[in-house]
Amino acid sequence: MSDALNYLVKARPEAMTAYFTFLKKAGDHLDTRTRDLISVITKVAVQTEGGFRQYLTRALRNGATPNEVIDALLMAFPVLGLAKIVWATEILLDMDIPEFRPENLDAEPAWHTVAAVEAIPDGRPEWYEADGRHVFVYRTGEELRVYDSRCPHQVTDIPHLAIDGVRLTCPKHEWAFDLDSGDCVAKGNRPLRRFEHKVEEGQLLAYW
Ligand code: FES
Repeated sequence: MSDALNYLVKARPEAMTAYFTFLKKAGDHLDTRTRDLISVITKVAVQTEGGFRQYLTRALRNGATPNEVIDALLMAFPVLGLAKIVWATEILLDMDIPEFRPENLDAEPAWHTVAAVEAIPDGRPEWYEADGRHVFVYRTGEELRVYDSRCPHQVTDIPHLAIDGVRLTCPKHEWAFDLDSGDCVAKGNRPLRRFEHKVEEGQLLAYW
């Protein structure tokens, strides 16, 4: 929620609680994905960039696919018009989410080679590029964790310089994560996305 909405909740708790109850009840008969896509479109209609990034992140986290987001944008053409669809598309390009790249739109999840296990530092998180995506890997002895570099807040590609010990802090709004567990430990409330992984012939592979 934005600072402005947080302020209004404190300043007018009854009115704002009624407002949020209304929003929740309004989508009672829609499935999550439909609700999420409509929410994304509302943010495009009013051209609220932060809201668009946040609602898009939520839609993707809840299972909407990039093709569905693009379809929703195009279907809303009669109300959005081309200018707002282009506005949203420019933000999508700026976010550079791997799944939205044209070559990935219809790709099925697959295993990707990240690094040779023996080259991964023990006890120190490391950042890797693998098939067009960035990941953080934290190895402690035999145990490996592989995290998406994309922030669960607004999909920012968290850079390797954001590592401090086992703590990772997103530079955009400073959500901080513990790379041991992936949990968010400051500012935000959602963990890093963790990829399934396996080791084959000495190579660490991750699934996305
Ligand atoms: S995008 Fe907001 S904290 Fe990362």
